Order: sequence, then C-alpha cells, then structure tokens
Amino acid sequence: MMDSKIILFQTCGFHFLFLFLHSAYGDMSYSFPEEMKRGSVIGNMAKDLGLDRGALSDRRARIDTDGTDTRYCDINLNNGELIVADRIDREGLCGEKASCILKHELVLENPLELHRISLHIQDINDNSPQFKEDFINIEIRESADRGARFVIEEAHDADVGQNSVQQYNLKNNDNFILAVDENTIELVLEKELDREKQQEINLLLTALDGGSPQRSGTVVIHVTVLDANDNAPVFSQAVYKASLPENSPVDTVVVTVSATDADEGVNGDVTYEFGHVTDDVKNIFSIDRKEGQIQIIGDIDYETTTSFEIRVKAKDGLGLSSYAKVIISITDVNDNAPVVNLKSLTNPIPENVSPGTEVGIINVQDRDSENNRQVRCSIQQNVPFKLVPSIKNYYSLVTTGQLDRELVSDYNITISATDEGSPPLSSSKTVQLSVADINDNPPVFEEQSYSAYVSENNKPGSTLCSVTARDPDWRQNGTVIYSLLPGEVNGAPVSSYLSVNGDTGVIHAVRSFDYEQFRSFKVHVTARDNGSPPLSSNVTVSVFVSDVNDNSPQILYPAPEGNSFMTELVPKAAHGGSLVSKVIAVDADSGQNAWLSYHIVKSTDPGLFTIGLHSGEIRTQRDISESDSMKQNLIVAVKDNGQPSLSATCSMYLLISDNLAEVPELKDISYDEKNSKLTSYLIIALVSVSTFFLTFIIIILGVRFCRSRKPRLLFDGAVAIPSAYLPPTYADVDGTGTLRSAYNYDAYLTTGSRTSDFKFVSSYNDNTLPADQTLRKSPSDFADVFGDCNGSPEVGTCFISSVPNV
Ligand SMILES: *[C@@H]1O[C@H](CO)[C@@H](O)[C@H](O)[C@H]1NC(C)=O
Ligand SMILES: *[C@@H]1O[C@H](CO)[C@@H](O)[C@H](O)[C@H]1NC(C)=O
Ligand SMILES: *[C@@H]1O[C@H](CO)[C@@H](O)[C@H](O)[C@H]1NC(C)=O
Repeated sequence: MMDSKIILFQTCGFHFLFLFLHSAYGDMSYSFPEEMKRGSVIGNMAKDLGLDRGALSDRRARIDTDGTDTRYCDINLNNGELIVADRIDREGLCGEKASCILKHELVLENPLELHRISLHIQDINDNSPQFKEDFINIEIRESADRGARFVIEEAHDADVGQNSVQQYNLKNNDNFILAVDENTIELVLEKELDREKQQEINLLLTALDGGSPQRSGTVVIHVTVLDANDNAPVFSQAVYKASLPENSPVDTVVVTVSATDADEGVNGDVTYEFGHVTDDVKNIFSIDRKEGQIQIIGDIDYETTTSFEIRVKAKDGLGLSSYAKVIISITDVNDNAPVVNLKSLTNPIPENVSPGTEVGIINVQDRDSENNRQVRCSIQQNVPFKLVPSIKNYYSLVTTGQLDRELVSDYNITISATDEGSPPLSSSKTVQLSVADINDNPPVFEEQSYSAYVSENNKPGSTLCSVTARDPDWRQNGTVIYSLLPGEVNGAPVSSYLSVNGDTGVIHAVRSFDYEQFRSFKVHVTARDNGSPPLSSNVTVSVFVSDVNDNSPQILYPAPEGNSFMTELVPKAAHGGSLVSKVIAVDADSGQNAWLSYHIVKSTDPGLFTIGLHSGEIRTQRDISESDSMKQNLIVAVKDNGQPSLSATCSMYLLISDNLAEVPELKDISYDEKNSKLTSYLIIALVSVSTFFLTFIIIILGVRFCRSRKPRLLFDGAVAIPSAYLPPTYADVDGTGTLRSAYNYDAYLTTGSRTSDFKFVSSYNDNTLPADQTLRKSPSDFADVFGDCNGSPEVGTCFISSVPNV
C-alpha cells in the first residue's frame, strides 16, 4: 500500500515539477556543487517561497525524503535557509549520470503544502582518473615487429564530463608511442625491443581529466621483454692460447673456453663442443660440454705434433652457435733418448789400416728439440778408435792407432750419446768390430836352433826330432808348413838324408847314418806360412850322429891278406922283455868303441910272449932258451871297448932264429896250397852250415818271441843295447872315420813296404834279438868252434863278431 502511494506521488511529482517549471512557482530547484560542507547554505527557501521567517517554524516546515532516502539537506527554520545536512557525493549518488538530481520535499503544515525541491548536484573535479591497477605487466617478445600494438586498459574517472578522463600521456621512452582511439589505448611498438639491452621497460602512462584543476592518474606499465633466441653465444676470446708440456697427465685442464649468450633460458644455455677436428685431436682432448674445460685424455707427444689448433663451438639451446679457436702449443720435454744409428761399418777391418782410417759412420738422432736434441757423442777410452764429428749429426769412427789382430782381434766399441736436456738422457750402442788378419807375422821357431842326436845305424824313417814354429796369424796366414831348404850334405842332396813332415815338423831320417861317414851335419828347415805372399823363417837343425860300436877292430899288421905270411924273427938271444913285434889295429869307431885292447888268445908256448894290453907290443916274457920251439905261433885278439865289444883276431908267426938262413923248416910252416885250399873249403862249409843252423834257430826263436812275447822282446832289446846312451863328448872323439862300413842298409821309406819277411829282418836289425845270443856267437866262440888257428893259418884274418848281412 505504501509503495503504491509513493509511486503515485512520484507520478504526481513529475507532473508538479512539469507544472512548477512552467509556472516557476511552487517547486523549487537548487543547483549546487557536490561535496559542500555540512551547514553550507544552498538557498533561502523562505525567501523563495515568500514566507515570513516565523511562518516556517509555525507551520512546522520540514524536509522529507522519499522513502528511505537519506536526507541530504535541511532547513534552518529560523531563517528559512536550506543547508547541507549530509555529505553529498555526486559520484556516490549518481555515478556516471550526466545530471544528478536529488529530490527532497518541503512539507508545510497548516495548511499542508508540499513543495518539491530538486537539488541539482553539480560535479566538481574531485576524482582523479584512475587505472585499474598501479602496475600493468605486459610481456612482449623481443622479436615483436615494429608497429605491434598492445592494448592497455583505459583509466576511469568518476567525475563526469570535462572532469572525466580527457587525455593520456605516455612518458617518453625509446620504444613505444601511444595510440588512443575512442575506447582503446594502445601501446604501439615504435622501435624493436632488445631484451639483451633492456630486459624491462617501465612506461609511465598518465591519464588526465579536463577538470580544473586538472587531475591525473598514472599507471606504470611494466614491459617485460621476452627473450628471443636472437643472440649467438659469444666467446670471451676469439683465440685461446695455451701452452702445455708434452706428456702432461690425463685430466690436466689445458684451457677453459667460455662463451656467453645474451639470451636467456634455453636460448642462453651455452654448451661447448669441438668443431670439426681430426680423430687425433679427439683422442687427445675432450671438452666439457657445460664448463668449457678442455682436458687431456690422451698422450701428448711433442714429437708427433707440436701444436694443436682446435675449433671450439659454443651452441645455445636453440642452435645458434659460434666458434673460437684454441691454439695449444706443446712444449718439448726431454723424453726421447738419443738414438745411435750405425750408418756404415767396415767390418772386419784389416789390421794394417793406417791410423786415421774411417771405419764407420754413425748418425745420432734425438727426436726432441732445441737443447733436448743437442747430443754429445763419445766412445770409451781404451780402444784405438775415436769419433770425429762430421756434418750435422754424423760422426766418423776413425782408428787412432795401429791395429794388431794378434793382440786384439775384436773390439766392442760402445758409443754413448747424451743429450743436453735436463735431466739428460743417454743411450749407447755397441759396435762389434773384428780385425781381419793380414799375413804380417812370419812363423817363428820356438828354438833358435835345433840339435838332433841320433845313433848311427838308425832305422831309416826313424824320428830324429821335431821343430815347431808358431805363427799367430789367422788360418792359412798362420798355418805353418815345414820344409827342408835344399842343400847338400857330403855331396848328396839333403833330402836323401832327412825328410821333414810338412805339417808336424817332425824330422825323420831317410837313411841310416854312419858315424864313420859323418858325425854331424846341418840342415836348414824353413817354416813357411800359407799366406799370400807367404812369410817364412829358417832354422838350423844340427844332426849329431853318435857312434855305435859297429866296426870291429881292423888289424893292419900283421897284414891279414895274402899268402905271404909275415914272420917275425926273434933273436935267440933275446932277453925277457924284448920287443919282438907289434900288432897294429885300428877301429873305425871312436871313443870306447875304438879303444882297443890286445890279448894273446892262443900261443904255441904260453908264457913265452906277452902282448901289451893297449900297445899291442909283443915282448918276450923270459929269455929264450934253446928248448923253445923255433916256430912260435900266436893268435892275438884285438877287442874294442864297445858294448858289446867287437874283436878281431890274427895270427902271428914268430921264428926264433938269428938268421933267416937257419930256417930250413920254413917250408913246413909255409903255405901248402892244396892243403890250405881244402882247409878253406872245409872252413867255409862249416861256417855256412853253422850260420844256417844259427839262423834257423834265430828264426824259430824270433818268430816265437814275436808272436807271444813281443813286448818282452822289445823290452829285452832295449835293455840289451846300452849304446842307446851316448855321452855328449863321445861323438867328438876323433877317429879315422874314413873307413867304409861293411854294412849297407837298404833304406826303406814306408812302413807299408815292410813285408812280413822283411819285418823280421828289420826287427833283427832293430836288435830285438837278445843281445846275449849275439854275444855268445862272438868271435871268440867262433874261434872255439874253429879250434886252433894253428892248424889253419889261412883263416888268417878275422872273424867279425857283428851280425853279418843276411
Ligand atoms: C764383445 O761382445 C760380445 C757379445 O756381448 C762378447 O761375446 C765378446 O766377448 C765381447 N768382446 C770383447 C772384446 O769384449
Ligand atoms: C791372410 O792375409 C791376407 C793379406 O796378407 C789377407 O788378404 C787374407 O784375408 C788373410 N787370410 C785370412 C784367412 O785372414
Ligand atoms: C832362409 O835361407 C834361404 C837360403 O839361405 C834364404 O834365401 C832366405 O832368405 C832365408 N829366409 C829367412 C827368412 O831367413
């Protein structure tokens, strides 16, 4: 009911207002600015209504509002002034309405009058333009093009009309201008952004109203420039240089490259890698993707590579990249020992090279550089070689003295090379050099001269002595060949006496020597080496033949031969001790072997004659008496003093008479031709039979001994021949030495020619026949066998006890 009443009043009010405006009476209208202080007078109603001052209070004038509306003005009943009763805020009351009218009513009672009061509230510029926020954040990618527009929310001003926002101002900046259209404010990109230059831009946008005084509101537009990957990474240096000693350990950081990327986030996320590099580099260096550290992962050898040039790539997340160069120079470390190379070598070197001869060329190398490759070379002291520096790192190995293979035949030459690094390294090489032989040494005999002593009657082929010559040269240059120097001994070539074994130097007798023929002779033996040309030296070999008792005494007187018997006359008056005759005998041997002694072995009247043991003088032992037989026959044996001794016998006829004429019986004792002939045949036959018998026995014995007891036989033989011992002076005993030996040995030269028969003979000659047997068959025995020499004066001569030729 109340609502409908109000609506009614309002409808009526419109009408009244319409009417009042037309009549300008009855309704009142006041216009005043908002926000007047309380109590401010808006107008005088009493005056306007034409009422007395008192009438208002009398009539209980009051201001009413419609319904619940706040009463903004009141009436001063005393003076009828309409005053502001409450704060009147146009914006609060009317907002953006262009006109703001508050409707109040003045109620008068008695009579009830109702006056409408329209309060036109006028806007005052009491509000500033205001943006919704103090900060506007906008993000713009830096890659945004020029002319790009960005809408900004406009500012609001609660005031209306001129007091509302009239214009905008953008504070000067580099990039943006403002474009204000009716409803929209836009930032227009006037110049491209660069995040890397300015990452954030604060723009101050001011909104201005049209009031007076003018009010403004500002907003800070915070422009965040978003990154675009518009920047490639940039290295801090275009070229990084590092120096590194070779052999640096793995993991050593060589250099750290660094690149920055002005972009941010992924766009500025720089990773490093090598650009195009060889596999070698990849095996030696690594780069840390994130940190840019270049580290060693392999062996660094200055001698292989002295510097590395590596392209390093820095790449940001989205693929922009740039490059830098890393130059790593490697410094040398003395890690290579010098190497000694033998370039050429004369090996072996002849020992006769002159000092200063180049025998080898040596090259020394050190792979290091500078001081580390300066090499000094030397060889050990005690060799006759030196190193002579030649061009560059070549050296000649040169002899410094005379070489002698016979002293030192091999040299181990150690060549040491030391470089000048610190610490220095060194190495050495041993060169083995042999000295080749030159035939520079003649054979040299061990003795100045040689003497050989041999008993005569030696076996042909027997060894006399041996000569030895030494030649220190090598192989054939030191191979000694012995030979006899041609010459003559007693008119015969020397080779008929001796032979020398060319290889061994053993000298053999070629023939049997006869002391009685010559006692000594000299030969020259040459030792020659096999070099080319050969060298040789001579030595004298003196051969001394020593005597063997091989000659039986030879009786010169009485003459053994002929039919005419020498008969000595012995005077009847001869006293005891008178020299009657003398047996003269000689012995071709010498010394003891020629020392003769005389014995009367048989006499007609023993005791009548005596013979001087050594003089051979036959003397009467007593005075001759008449009773003594006129014919005296003596058999005298002449013995030498050899071992065994040899002897000869002879018969001597003595006639005791003072006058040759007194010897008519001479015929009796004279030679009876027939008889003597017969006797001779008998004797010869007997001797032959005996000899054959003897020979036969000897053969039997010999064969037996040879077969079963040969060693003993040899032994026996050796013992049985004491003549093997010969005193040195013995050979010097002078003798006649001109007598020819009755014995001729046939020389045999080869053992192969010793046939079994001959062998026997040779052993026979070797005196392997027991000597006592021989002795037993000595002349005396023969004499016994043949009995009295008296009966067979023709035997007349001598039995020679030595073994006859067979
Ligand atoms: C040289 O060296 C070789 C091998 O090492 C050795 O057999 C020889 O005896 C040495 N010679 C000398 C003269 O040192
Ligand atoms: C022997 O010496 C000669 C030079 O006198 C030399 O040429 C030769 O090689 C030498 N022989 C040996 C086997 O050394
Ligand atoms: C050896 O003797 C012979 C002959 O007398 C002589 O020609 C030669 O020069 C000698 N040789 C030496 C090395 O004495």
